[in-house]
Amino acid sequence: MDATEFKSKQRELWALGNFGDMAVFTTPVAGHLVRFAGVSHAHSVLDVGTGTGVVAITARRLGARTTGLDLTPELLAQAIQGSSHLGYDDIAWHEGDAEALPFPDASFDVVLSQFGHMFAPRPEVAIAEMLRVLKPGGMIAFATWPGEQLIGRQFSTNARYVPPPPGVPSPVLWGDVGTVRQRLGDNVKSIHTERGIMGIPALHPKQMRALLEAKAGPFARAVEVLSQEPARLAEWRREMDELIDEYLADNIVRHEYLLTRAVKV
Ligand SMILES: C[S@@+](CC[C@H](N)C(=O)[O-])C[C@H]1O[C@@H](n2cnc3c(N)ncnc32)[C@H](O)[C@@H]1O
Repeated sequence: MDATEFKSKQRELWALGNFGDMAVFTTPVAGHLVRFAGVSHAHSVLDVGTGTGVVAITARRLGARTTGLDLTPELLAQAIQGSSHLGYDDIAWHEGDAEALPFPDASFDVVLSQFGHMFAPRPEVAIAEMLRVLKPGGMIAFATWPGEQLIGRQFSTNARYVPPPPGVPSPVLWGDVGTVRQRLGDNVKSIHTERGIMGIPALHPKQMRALLEAKAGPFARAVEVLSQEPARLAEWRREMDELIDEYLADNIVRHEYLLTRAVKV
């Protein structure tokens, strides 16, 4: 599968379910990322893989000149509607691809991505594009899922049941600090990382799993494919429930994420 075909499948994937209902949980992470990146009213900011716009809208609330870009028009439509309700008609929304950003070189003071650019199939192309549109001395910062934490382990489980196309690196490699440093390379200085927890309330692992199946594209897709094979679907659900159970404490499922920031040289 070539990169163009992969991205058209990604577009369909993220339109499955309703990620807008998950964005209530990514909203606090957006607050963390924007603070971690030092966004202020003086900045022009790009949010790559904006989804329903939680990072872009957070930056705009701080007074930044803000642009949000995403592959999936259904999610962008929610971003446009949501920001308009808040009176932020001046955010520039673009349907587009992290691997081919439709902006001139050195356009932004800050380039952000929250669980977005990690899904581009060619990491080296996506990061080169994000750095290209960033001004020298500007800040790049992103949130990603580590492979050894809940979402990373769920993605590995999904890959065992519904194998991804060959040759596409796992998105959770973006959650590995060594890989992140290597991919940022000599183009940046002052790399800092920090971790945080995205908490999702649940009374039981099955409740959390049902939410993912209904709202989050990669999980909705796994159920869609496995529904042809009820025994494997039951086994996948059992594995998911066991995994979620390990991270459920005080009725909160704890999803640990990695934040990275760096300054373009
Ligand atoms: C997990 S959602 C995150 C959305 C949002 N940033 C948030 O935190 O709520 C992943 C997003 O990445 C987008 N995406 C995936 N591949 C992309 C690509 N190559 N270029 C731009 N966006 C992409 C999807 O359309 C989806 O909106």
